[in-house]
Amino acid sequence: MCGIFGYCNFLVERDRRFILNTLLNGLSRLEYRGYDSAGMSVDGDNGIQIYKEVGKVSALRELVESQSIDFDKTFISHSGMAHTRWATHGKPSRINSHPHRSGIDNEFTIIHNGIITNYKEIKTFLLKKDIVFETETDTEVVIKLTKYLYDSQKDISFTDLVKAVVKEVEGGFSFIFKSSRYPDELVATRRGSPLLIGVKTSQKLKVDFVDVEFSEGAERATLNDPTGTGFVDVASGTTGAPHLNRSMSRAFLSEDGSPQPIEYFLASDASAIVEHTKRVLYLEDDDIAHIGAGELHIHRLRRENDNSPISRTIETLEIELAEIMKGSFDHFMQKEIYEQPESVVNTMRGRVNFEDHKITLGGLRGYLSTIRRARRIVFIACGTSYHSCLATRAVFEELTEIPTQIELASDFLDRRSPIFRDDVCVFVSQSGETADTILAMRYCLERGALAVGITNTVGSSISRETHCGVHINAGPEIGVASTKAYTSQYIALVMMALQLSEDKLSTENRRKEIIDGLYLLPGHIKEVLATAGDLQQLSKDTLSKEKSLLIMGRGYQNATCLEGALKIKEISYMHSEGILAGELKHGPLALVDENMPVILIMTQDSLYPKVQSALQQVSARKGQPIIICNTGDDNLINDYRTIKVPKTADCLQGLINVVPLQLLSYYLAVLNGQDVDFPRNLAKSVTVE
Ligand code: AGP
Repeated sequence: MCGIFGYCNFLVERDRRFILNTLLNGLSRLEYRGYDSAGMSVDGDNGIQIYKEVGKVSALRELVESQSIDFDKTFISHSGMAHTRWATHGKPSRINSHPHRSGIDNEFTIIHNGIITNYKEIKTFLLKKDIVFETETDTEVVIKLTKYLYDSQKDISFTDLVKAVVKEVEGGFSFIFKSSRYPDELVATRRGSPLLIGVKTSQKLKVDFVDVEFSEGAERATLNDPTGTGFVDVASGTTGAPHLNRSMSRAFLSEDGSPQPIEYFLASDASAIVEHTKRVLYLEDDDIAHIGAGELHIHRLRRENDNSPISRTIETLEIELAEIMKGSFDHFMQKEIYEQPESVVNTMRGRVNFEDHKITLGGLRGYLSTIRRARRIVFIACGTSYHSCLATRAVFEELTEIPTQIELASDFLDRRSPIFRDDVCVFVSQSGETADTILAMRYCLERGALAVGITNTVGSSISRETHCGVHINAGPEIGVASTKAYTSQYIALVMMALQLSEDKLSTENRRKEIIDGLYLLPGHIKEVLATAGDLQQLSKDTLSKEKSLLIMGRGYQNATCLEGALKIKEISYMHSEGILAGELKHGPLALVDENMPVILIMTQDSLYPKVQSALQQVSARKGQPIIICNTGDDNLINDYRTIKVPKTADCLQGLINVVPLQLLSYYLAVLNGQDVDFPRNLAKSVTVE
């Protein structure tokens, strides 16, 4: 996944230094999305200037600051764009980083997030036209195609040119185009990758929406007939020669109808925009946004069954800048681990009545009876989000008595698993943009299942395309390793199970026990956080030199083992494996000897005796496990190192037990000198298959 960012100023005088810093700072906010190289496209003194560098945004900043250019030059109107890359096609290198260009004169430039699935066919076509390529990327074919289509019809508008280009492109993308042929303009479009536009004006906007300008079918918006982009006047339904649809530009005009000073910020997600403005507009798939002369126009080709809304609302962001800053913490991951006492409260806020023991998930209103009648509930997710489904599968089965299945999205799609109209499919995703999970969602939607989205990102593809859902309200999670989103997803799923079973008197006492446990959860997490020093010491003294670590548990704690192992793998690069304790004697026990570090989760629940048996099996092979156990558990033989955690309802215990594992992975990564927030080879949201 890559980060894309654009900035346009109109009638707002900005010097070059401000513009370059705005683009670089925007990239820094998006760096967690991808960070092997970065670049930008801005107005130079002779046409478009491109800067690109391998490495993190800081390397690009150094390159730009080393330029002998007039940083004080001012621009009353300017458009610029920037990109931070997570390589998919073509190794990380300066030439493969974005922006890509149409030729050595930078006449057309593009930045891209996603994957072009038919890039080889396009490249073959263009090579036959003797067009020369300079990179190994899929993206380059798009900007070369842009130039080719432009040359075949020079007096085409920027919007229509991009329309003609994206008609030929298949795959997932969000693009921003900048061209010296259309000075001070940007055109942005998306299909499957997020893109939002922030608007900043000194005066209040006239209206809080932008009308969509439809042009008839794809065949008319071709290069042979640029006037084929006749607007459909939504009010009268008439088509004809383009005419100004007053409402679409009314939003950005001042009292006397003249364009007003305005700045636009385009980004892959809100964290890069919130410091500039909270007024944002989310583009829909196949929207083509044109920014020029201070106005924002949104175009679409009118297609069969295009039931997208006829206007785009300018919304107000709920997140705060502080939420996307590290504050006093050394890393975003550390901050987000420590935020959990608050984030779990935010997830439950307004949804759990601790006195009446009632749950209200507004996002499911109107769908509860349908879900209760489901033939089965199928949870589909990836990575940590999958673990939150695994952690709550048992409580779903217990409370709802609906057969419950959990699926890794990629494997589910590989098997083309049968899905039916009476299935309820729940898609869990922090980013709401994970390609595998989105593809699985669309697979299930095509088969008539009810789709429920559990996400942390407003406006994300999964939140918008599912029938209903729950926003976990964990706040922006910047660290690539998911922590607070895991615990919030876990809680959201528990709340869903609780609400679904409110029609069963038989579960009343169990529901009260769980809700009482949720009430105490923030305090329990704080208790564990208070032992961080001991965990840091344990990491340093015992684990940091090890090559591998086994984490064992069973029942509700199976998910905790897998999640803990994933945390350790993905940020400390130390091998770690979550093992179901019941499986030990079926093979993994062979790994155990006095040299193999083992963490055993043995908190008190109905399976405690069976885990004690696992402890004996490990000890008999000279294993010296570290035991995560409940405070006050005196059954343990004193000569084991223990990590004491408070006790709660069995189905919630994993919310507490995961915290020491989050902290251990964090300290191991720091001890190993790894880049905690930007672990190698990974990205915050995997928007490619
Ligand atoms: C978790 O620490 C990883 N970053 C990764 O497994 C992540 O959970 C997975 O890619 C799913 O992401 P999503 O929740 O945004 O769909």
